[in-house]
Amino acid sequence: MNFVPFVAFLFFVSFVAAQTGKAFIPHTEALPIVQALRDDLIPSELKNRAAADLEGAWPAWISGRDAAVRARVAEGDEDSIAYLVLFGTTFTAKPRTTERELAALAVNSADGMKAVQPRIADFVAAVALPDANERLQFARQVFARHAIDLTTDAGRTQVRRFLEERVAGVATGAIPRSATLLDRGAAAADTQTLFRDRGLSSDTSIFIDYGIDQALAQLKLQGRLDTAAVRRVAIIGPGLDFTDKLEGYDFYPQQTIQPFAIVDSLMRHDLAAPDLQVTAFDLSPRVIQHLDAARERARRSEPYTLVLPRNLDRPWTPELVDYWQRIGGWIGEEAKAPAAPPNAGRVQIRSVRVRPAVTAAITPRDLNIVLERSEAASPADRFDLVIATNILLYYDVFEQALATANIARMLRPGGLLLTNNQIFELPPIPLGGVGFTDVTYMALPGIGETGDRVVWYQRQ
Ligand SMILES: C[S@@+](CC[C@H](N)C(=O)[O-])C[C@H]1O[C@@H](n2cnc3c(N)ncnc32)[C@H](O)[C@@H]1O
Repeated sequence: MNFVPFVAFLFFVSFVAAQTGKAFIPHTEALPIVQALRDDLIPSELKNRAAADLEGAWPAWISGRDAAVRARVAEGDEDSIAYLVLFGTTFTAKPRTTERELAALAVNSADGMKAVQPRIADFVAAVALPDANERLQFARQVFARHAIDLTTDAGRTQVRRFLEERVAGVATGAIPRSATLLDRGAAAADTQTLFRDRGLSSDTSIFIDYGIDQALAQLKLQGRLDTAAVRRVAIIGPGLDFTDKLEGYDFYPQQTIQPFAIVDSLMRHDLAAPDLQVTAFDLSPRVIQHLDAARERARRSEPYTLVLPRNLDRPWTPELVDYWQRIGGWIGEEAKAPAAPPNAGRVQIRSVRVRPAVTAAITPRDLNIVLERSEAASPADRFDLVIATNILLYYDVFEQALATANIARMLRPGGLLLTNNQIFELPPIPLGGVGFTDVTYMALPGIGETGDRVVWYQRQ
């Protein structure tokens, strides 16, 4: 493999606390959004209220909504376990579930369920063992939340039924398989809010990071981003690769990819300031804990290992393959890749050992972007660049408008938001579209070309 050498060793300073804390969006910013939106898009509790009335109702509404949004994380965790059951290879020697078997499950045929039952049986047996791997241990925690006792026959039967229900949900499309399969550039509210009723999934893969990489290259080419101009970056919802919805590989430790991929791209395109700092905002405790643990290891000079699998049966475009071959070259060095089990299919794997200084420049912060914003010590400390991919589509139009207002507040004037969701541009929110980048990942049989549109929004 052609591995690109490091271009330069950039020295990252550890995070300087330029972000002082967080605050809920004030009612004064919500009011113009309520006034700008169509009546049917506004929560009934907030409709037809005078300004003073909204001010009174706001604290209770916002804390109730914050709790409700955060509660969706647990449901997303359950969907991730369903994907693990269908595609994982660490708890079973059986082949991964095929598209055809998924289609049979989708029409609710008894044959469909029969095909996945052996996997479910293996999963139930493995999850009950005390030396279960980290993903299975997580599944145990989820079952414990449902008060299921895995040591009893009755408990194991409960788990089996629970899994049958969840995998059927995945297959019937009640839980769509991939956010990246959206129609590129489709603006309809239904498409842009597609997952508004779903659990909050943490899934991630390198696909969208390729899209961001291409967008950054174009922004530089067009003179919208100057050399070394990006000093503060916010990633909203970096995600955790537990079992992604397309491939579901589980033969390597859980990892986050986006924060590292973005630093890599910024360095590759000579956009990173020497003291680049990345703040990774997420409401999932799992994501925050994962990044905290990585930082702790970086303090002990331990590298972060990225594992980058490529399913050779998927017809990736040459450009995506090229990105996959290069990713990580600016932030670390090639490492020995783990071996995939035989039932993982035809997969080629790269691995990158990321320098501890890079991990030390990434700070995780709890934040619910729908209702909260991070406050900067001064306007000059606001972000130059915010990345928010595969996240806004989990919210309805009103929630997306609040999130967009929060993002606008966190950006410096002239700063950029890159997202694969077309946001609803509203007059009270000082963010305007200035361009976009289209990327293609592959052509899937029966689905067609898959890809993303990365839209560029600029803070006025
Ligand atoms: C589907 S993953 C996408 C990960 C990554 N951005 C990508 O595109 O591959 C969505 C991420 O956003 C986080 N998230 C969802 N809603 C959020 C919110 N309101 N505030 C902050 N993070 C949120 C989830 O916990 C998860 O980490």
